[in-house]
Amino acid sequence: MSYYCSMKKYIKPALWALAGLFVLAQFIRPEKNQSNEHPAHIRNRFPAPENVETILQAACYDCHSNNTRYPWYTGIQPVAAWIANHVAEGKRELNFSEFTSRRIAIQNHKLEEVIELVRKQEMPLASYTWIHADARLSTPQKNALIAWAQAAMDTIKAQYPADSLVLRRKRR
Ligand code: HEC
Repeated sequence: MSYYCSMKKYIKPALWALAGLFVLAQFIRPEKNQSNEHPAHIRNRFPAPENVETILQAACYDCHSNNTRYPWYTGIQPVAAWIANHVAEGKRELNFSEFTSRRIAIQNHKLEEVIELVRKQEMPLASYTWIHADARLSTPQKNALIAWAQAAMDTIKAQYPADSLVLRRKRR
């Protein structure tokens, strides 16, 4: 009982401290990923049919292009930091805006990853589809996306000798 009472007097100051931290955190404003520069966009080389382009826009480009949409709540910390982190990491792995500037072996490999991760439902991230209902892909949508990526791989395979598609360094 006395232990409980002595703890109790810390609750209010602790809550105030948390509230203060929350307010202070709002001053941290990560740089936004917003640009119309898409110097080597994947669509220049492997144009997607309209339905697939719509899927990419709704489900992938926020984290895998040079331009992210920022609904109002994304301006609130700690959400803003969390999103900035996802975008940075997502772009580092795969940036559709700069896709065709990579070596052909890497482009080929990334397309393969797209197929694999969409099939396994690892992409788009669950934390994203939880909020973005239009990014929850139906089976026909997944199939359309996969068919486009597969067609792009087939094009590459037809245009380049097999040994140019071998990854020299090990990459995930
Ligand atoms: C909310 C952000 C977000 C969205 C939306 C998103 N991704 Fe990702 N993606 C990431 C992050 C972060 C990584 C890197 C870490 C990981 O693999 O989990 C990644 C990794 C990947 C990779 C792996 C690249 C590699 O070589 O390992 C592929 C492929 C990929 N995403 C495809 C997609 C596709 C296709 C979509 C849309 C259907 C999509 N992603 C939607 C954040 C996102």
